Amino acid sequence: MKITLRLVISLVLVVALVAFAFSFYQVREEKIRLTSDLERRTIVLAESLQESVTPLFKSDSPEKLNRFVQRFGNRDRFQGIAVHDARGQLLASTADLDPQIPGSIPQVVHVLAEGRPADSFVHVGNRRIYLYAFPLASGEETIGVLTLFYNASYIDVRLEEIWRHNLIRFLILFVLVVAITLIVVRWSITGPIAQVAVWMRDLRTGKTGTVKPADLPKMDAALDPLISEASRMAKSLAIARARAEKASSLLARTEPPWTADRLREHMRAELGGKKLYLVSNREPYMHEKDGSAIRCIVPAGGLVTALDPVMRVCDGLWIAHGSGDADRETVDGNNTLRVPPGQPAYTLKRVWLTKEEEDGYYYGFANEGLWPLCHITHIRPEFRLEDWTHYRKVNEKFADALLTEIAGEESPLVLVQDYHLALLPALIKEKRPDAKVAIFWHIPWPNPEAYGICPWRQEILHGMLGSDIIGFHIQFHCNNFLETVDRFLESKIDWEQFSVTRGGHSTLIKPFPISVSFELPSGAPASESWPTKEDLLRALGVEVEYLGVGVDRIDYTKGIPERFRAIERFFEKYPEYLGRFTFVELGAPSRTHIKKYRDLTTEIEEAEEKINWRFRTKTWRPIVFLKAHHTHETIGPYYKASDLCMVTSLHDGMNLVAKEFVAARDDDDGVLILSQFTGASRELKDAVIVNPYDIEQMADAIRLSLGMPPAERRARMGRMRETLIEFNIYRWAGKLIAGLARLRLTDETSTSEATP
Ligand code: G6P
Repeated sequence: MKITLRLVISLVLVVALVAFAFSFYQVREEKIRLTSDLERRTIVLAESLQESVTPLFKSDSPEKLNRFVQRFGNRDRFQGIAVHDARGQLLASTADLDPQIPGSIPQVVHVLAEGRPADSFVHVGNRRIYLYAFPLASGEETIGVLTLFYNASYIDVRLEEIWRHNLIRFLILFVLVVAITLIVVRWSITGPIAQVAVWMRDLRTGKTGTVKPADLPKMDAALDPLISEASRMAKSLAIARARAEKASSLLARTEPPWTADRLREHMRAELGGKKLYLVSNREPYMHEKDGSAIRCIVPAGGLVTALDPVMRVCDGLWIAHGSGDADRETVDGNNTLRVPPGQPAYTLKRVWLTKEEEDGYYYGFANEGLWPLCHITHIRPEFRLEDWTHYRKVNEKFADALLTEIAGEESPLVLVQDYHLALLPALIKEKRPDAKVAIFWHIPWPNPEAYGICPWRQEILHGMLGSDIIGFHIQFHCNNFLETVDRFLESKIDWEQFSVTRGGHSTLIKPFPISVSFELPSGAPASESWPTKEDLLRALGVEVEYLGVGVDRIDYTKGIPERFRAIERFFEKYPEYLGRFTFVELGAPSRTHIKKYRDLTTEIEEAEEKINWRFRTKTWRPIVFLKAHHTHETIGPYYKASDLCMVTSLHDGMNLVAKEFVAARDDDDGVLILSQFTGASRELKDAVIVNPYDIEQMADAIRLSLGMPPAERRARMGRMRETLIEFNIYRWAGKLIAGLARLRLTDETSTSEATP
């Protein structure tokens, strides 16, 4: 738009300047022409009148002279004549002129004195009069003066007319210039460039397969060099992509599967006895008072689900916020304890926060600011200065805790987790440039426009870029991040390596799709001994043929109200399923200190009540909403017993419920209904993929899932399980930790990837 505006303004200015210069010249010429024409006509008339007036003047007959003069009354532009005697006294004048002739006319005086004609333009009222005084001579002597009066206003009228016409012409020209410029710019510049951009984006995201000449947009010849360069680049991209896909599929096929044991071995080799330091806000084990007893719970959420199995294998130190009300009573003098309880495998160090710190940092900036900022669910983020201040302070607190722990260790390996600790990497690197730091962002990264509303957008990017590696679940979020950095920070971005370099320090931006362990934790009951579908239904007090399950933290990103609406619509559209299908929602209360979360719980409860009221019978309910903190032991049997599992997130970095459901289905049965807006949908392509905003489509997806032939169910589930067996959490950890361990910090600040 800027170019177009600049072009239009310059063209209009030039046109205006030229139009003005031409008009000015034309007016001047016309003025000269009309004036000299008037003068010429006046002189001719004056000379012819002189012959008639002189005898009358000499005859000394004022009546005759007067009669003659009156004959020249106001005729068109000619106003009349006046005759003065040798003393300058008015002898006679055309009647209309009388009131206009001043007592003494300077031109008459001048003619009497010089004996030569004199002329001038004078203003009478609002008219311009041309006045021509001519001597009446007798021999050598001037005996009087004959003065002619012409109305010269028509000259001004004519000149104004020229200006007006030229202004109208200019305005027409202005409109034409603007319109033509806009059309030409759109046709020849912005339109083709936008086409090239779409085409290049499709190539980059792999939408168009191989590049054919026919794919190229039709362009102006001037853009040919750009097109040919772009097409060459696209070709290399397509070749590189194909090679990479081939290489990774070969590698994946030849690589033995990742297991806990393999990761343990791998860690031993990679870390060479070094400890792994993991820092997150949420702790993996939380102690809560239960009357006079203390119970240990595993908090809900993907982060803990994914990382606890890794830490069990790596035996490192996990630093997290001690948020349980009995947490202080269960740690030693260094605020640490060995976990999991009963099978100690690694150390948990708790960081204590004041109520104000927790409010500002966790509830405020992290969960009312960054969480809605990164999830596109149309919930407006809230940014408050006091929250930001707490966020910075708490990040510093975590940094202090970590720096104390790594004080004696050379080149320690630090894995920072998630959006609560975005500033931590830079704080660590400032003090310990030798540390190898990665941050893994468990939630989506938005596009630059969406991210740009954050008042502290640069500080957050700066904090994250302290890391040597920044991990996201999918490439799309990496691209968004790089585009964001490109927009808001001075830096060098390498789109081939996917790295950002600032002030000599480089950060690799890579996708590491997180996953689940695919193995039951040692000591957990085998799935054969889990409660069966009948047991679960009996406990719920419903009698049905089909069971569906949803497992979520009660969070507005999870699309729970949309899911309930789809279930209601399913029963409306397919009433033959009334009394035959029940959906159980296992919802864990989350962040209930925030009003939006409390309101959401009420909304879900009301929806459950409304739908059940509408359809329920004595022995059946369409929806059972179990709002509680559910353990993995409770959830596992539901996964195993359900005919379908619904994951309908409006936006989700990965969503491990989808993967946990598939991992639990060792019977190769069950259908996964999965939102297209989850990271998991990129890997679990055999799920029934839905748009959670499309209620009709989701209702039909439930119908499709319940009616799916067993062979198809098994084939789909089998393929999804194969994917997850291979791409499990041990592989994720192995790749991320090896990536970090093998980085060569070539100087104090710069990073490069070592060849494996
Ligand atoms: C998401 C976040 C995690 C968080 C989890 C549970 O998965 O990415 O960082 O731990 O939600 O949320 P909470 O606020 O209870 O930690």
